[in-house]
Amino acid sequence: MLKVGYIGWRGMVGSVLMNRMQQENDFAKIEPYFFSTSNVGGDAPNIGRPIPKLLDAYDINILKDLDCIVTTQGSEYTEEVLPKLQAAGYTGYWVDASSSLRMNDNSIIILDPINRHVINKGLENGIKIYSGGNCTVSLMLLALGGLFERDLIEWVDSMTYQAASGAGANNMRELLIQSGYIYNDVKMLLDTPNCNILDIDAKVADILKSNQLPMNYFGAPLAGNVLPWIDKGLDNGQTKEEWKGSAETNKILGYKPDTILIDGLCVRVGSMRCHSQALTIKLKDDKLSIEQIQELICKHNQWVRFVDNNKQDTLKYLTPAAVSGTLNIAVGRMRKLKFGNNYLALFTVGDQLLWGAAEPLRRMVNIINEYHK
Ligand code: HSE
Repeated sequence: MLKVGYIGWRGMVGSVLMNRMQQENDFAKIEPYFFSTSNVGGDAPNIGRPIPKLLDAYDINILKDLDCIVTTQGSEYTEEVLPKLQAAGYTGYWVDASSSLRMNDNSIIILDPINRHVINKGLENGIKIYSGGNCTVSLMLLALGGLFERDLIEWVDSMTYQAASGAGANNMRELLIQSGYIYNDVKMLLDTPNCNILDIDAKVADILKSNQLPMNYFGAPLAGNVLPWIDKGLDNGQTKEEWKGSAETNKILGYKPDTILIDGLCVRVGSMRCHSQALTIKLKDDKLSIEQIQELICKHNQWVRFVDNNKQDTLKYLTPAAVSGTLNIAVGRMRKLKFGNNYLALFTVGDQLLWGAAEPLRRMVNIINEYHK
């Protein structure tokens, strides 16, 4: 059986990964070992059968005997441990949720419903490093898989509405604390009959502009606000998050850089764990009808949930609230734009922690396992 080590399994993405593995009975297929950076010798999680106690996540001698390491521990861990492990002669696989190795020549970005052919080729060529992709990129690719597969896309302008979870667990907490703080500050006014809404609004605006709200993690209020900046800035005016759109998409598809152009603005909004994106797409073919496009998108994979372009269905099915905690990739508001018959608009929502982070890793371990049978 494949010996697989898990690092960072207690964190947010790690916990989602563990849940999915339990749901799919994945642990029955492998020999799992759980590691810790802080609680070595503690109890491993309950997977329904006896397994060893928690091992030391920095012990290269133990790690080096594994067939596969899955880390959701973050870039720092990867950058510290992987070079030492390689120097010690590790020949197993490294499956990584962090972004640190994604663009390396000797790594593959994993999103198997989209690039199973690239993954298969990587396995055949002895590639050992497999990185999960940026969440907005993975979610966008799953939504548009049917169009990418037929090479129908010339460019995509992606305007994102990214959830707090993409910034981390502490940021999700901070969003809720900020919301509660604002509510508490105006509760008395809200409870006062006939209180003028502009008085309430003025009080909220004062709180947002003051330094009263906790904002250690976002650096600004997210509750009652939007933040049009994610990650660090680059010299060309993009943020790193925006740069990833084209860079990672083309790598995932096995294309040369910028073969398909993806660009847009990435914005943090006050949703919890689902990223939404408004996409403007230039198609290579202006003959395709909206019905044909819908069919291609729906047929591509089992997770797409197409939402008819009406208010009732949109509010019910095409929101972070509707998609949260599911593997669904909701796609809706689709229509041709006035700019011409090859300009398409649509809105898509996916769970940032599932398809955006944990699910591709879970599936990659199964792919490696199958490959070595
Ligand atoms: N970078 C993403 C975000 C999450 O900040 O929302 C990880 O892919």
